[in-house]
Amino acid sequence: MGDLLIEVRDLAFRYPGGAQALRGVNFRLHRSETVAVLGANGSGKTTFLNHLVGLLSGEGSVRVCGLPVIAANLGRIRQRVGMLFQDADDQIFMPTVEDDVAFGPLNLGLPAEVVRERVEWSLEQVGLNGQRRLPPHNLSAGERRRAALAGVLATNPEILLLDEPATFLDPPAKRALVRTLGSLPQSKVLVTHEVDFAAALADRAVFFEDGAIVAEGAVSELADRFKWR
Ligand SMILES: Nc1ncnc2c1ncn2[C@@H]1O[C@H](COP(=O)(O)OP(=O)(O)O)[C@@H](O)[C@H]1O
Ligand SMILES: [Mg+2]
Repeated sequence: MGDLLIEVRDLAFRYPGGAQALRGVNFRLHRSETVAVLGANGSGKTTFLNHLVGLLSGEGSVRVCGLPVIAANLGRIRQRVGMLFQDADDQIFMPTVEDDVAFGPLNLGLPAEVVRERVEWSLEQVGLNGQRRLPPHNLSAGERRRAALAGVLATNPEILLLDEPATFLDPPAKRALVRTLGSLPQSKVLVTHEVDFAAALADRAVFFEDGAIVAEGAVSELADRFKWR
């Protein structure tokens, strides 16, 4: 199937000396789909996302854009997949917000003019044009979250993996994020524990429990079934 962007089969993973974090996960993402990943803290959501970009590697098979997620393919895969980490501080490290947003496109070897346009557009998307010359550590936690998202958008990936993108955002910023994400054409995997946020964006949802996907369906249906509100 040409529009199958992510295919995960029987994925299992145990942290060295630690928990069995994934136990037989099966998952698919098609082009233009937004799938919400719901589940309690510690249920394996972040561990799952990390496997999609090869930061972790377990048993089973993971294919992204038709490519097995193995060392030899990671360069190509990471050009097509943008990931917003759960902890923004893991991905913001340049002296100013705009330098940080420019880092990804510069790294892709894009011409300076294109980089400038991408930075402009991405900062606009997250509403941080006014803060572009600030050092990231002077931003609020919610603004750092948005800066990290701008950095991901600036690389114009085909797939967005978003790990708790609404954390630290106040209600207006959350509504703005829903508008932004809703207007983007990318296929998305949206990890969140906020039902309303998921419902506003996702076509369907999967529910993680103890390292496995135990149910799939509409966001509201899963939220009711698991009393997840
Ligand atoms: N680096 C790590 N080393 C050992 N265990 C970990 C590590 N990261 C997560 N875990 C464990 O793996 C399980 C799944 O964690 P995680 O994927 O972060 O869940 P979620 O994102 O759903 O909150 C939890 O039991 C957690 O304690
Ligand atoms: Mg997590």
